[in-house]
Amino acid sequence: MPLLTRRRAADLDATILGMGNAAEASRSIKDETGAASGQGGARTVHLTKVYGTGDMAVRALDDVSVVLPERRFTAIMGPSGAGKSTLMHCVAGLEDATSGKVYVGDQELGALSDRRLTRLRRERIGFVFQAFNLLPTLTARDNILLPMTLAGTSPDQEWLDTVVRVLKLGDRLSHRPAEMSGGQQQRVALARALVTRPQIVFADEPTGNLDSRTGAEVLTLLRNAVDDLGQTVAMVTHDPVAAGHADSVVFLADGRIVDVMDAPTPDRVLDRMRGLGDTR
Ligand SMILES: Nc1ncnc2c1ncn2[C@@H]1O[C@H](COP(=O)(O)OP(=O)(O)OP(=O)(O)O)[C@@H](O)[C@H]1O
Ligand SMILES: [Mg+2]
Repeated sequence: MPLLTRRRAADLDATILGMGNAAEASRSIKDETGAASGQGGARTVHLTKVYGTGDMAVRALDDVSVVLPERRFTAIMGPSGAGKSTLMHCVAGLEDATSGKVYVGDQELGALSDRRLTRLRRERIGFVFQAFNLLPTLTARDNILLPMTLAGTSPDQEWLDTVVRVLKLGDRLSHRPAEMSGGQQQRVALARALVTRPQIVFADEPTGNLDSRTGAEVLTLLRNAVDDLGQTVAMVTHDPVAAGHADSVVFLADGRIVDVMDAPTPDRVLDRMRGLGDTR
């Protein structure tokens, strides 16, 4: 029995991944960073994102040029409201840039039609939302398989089994989100992002609701995605230990990049965070 009709699937794609709009702005802005992100990486060039207008305007990102290098694990840190989720949403093509450019590989997202942007997201990007964005009417199994259902492809059973085992979801597959704890929902969201083995995985605080042991296993899974499968991972976290698993850390404050740290250790990350007033 087909899980979903095609039409319903298209609606759901809009729901879980966001349709986004091809950004019209900024086509004239010159690419000045020149840094290559590689086919499997991503980068922004003078990216600015303003929500709202007039007195209500919030400059969530202010002239951010950053590279998420191919086959690297990049952590994104900074105080609450610094623009971390906004950056991930813009790079993943879920939000339009107000100005500036975003590249996934060599593809500039603002140059794509909505249709091609949706396809790029589906084929190349996995996203773990801070708020999970699971579909309440679907079981854990169907939530995990949703990207493949939408794309009309089938999972690699061995890989699916591995993801389910590592994320300890074996006995939860027939449950709906309301019947699961926050940590279990977070793991389902992570499984959904990993199951297609996308080129780039964006994970917004993927260990925020997990106990330390499960969190460590999730971080190992992300590390292995980079080292063994050649994926590119960008992860938002408030946890210096989690950031210690990354190859580099990008620090944001008030919508701007204030530092980049290579080969981070939890102690150095903690020191830097204190300097930014992030004491959470
Ligand atoms: N859809 C929106 N409409 C208006 N303002 C928004 C919207 N999304 C985010 N913002 C604002 O943009 C700024 C950056 O928000 P963002 O969610 O990117 O922060 P964050 O660094 O992810 O914070 P946290 O650590 O709390 O998740 C905040 O001031 C926030 O209130
Ligand atoms: Mg956030």
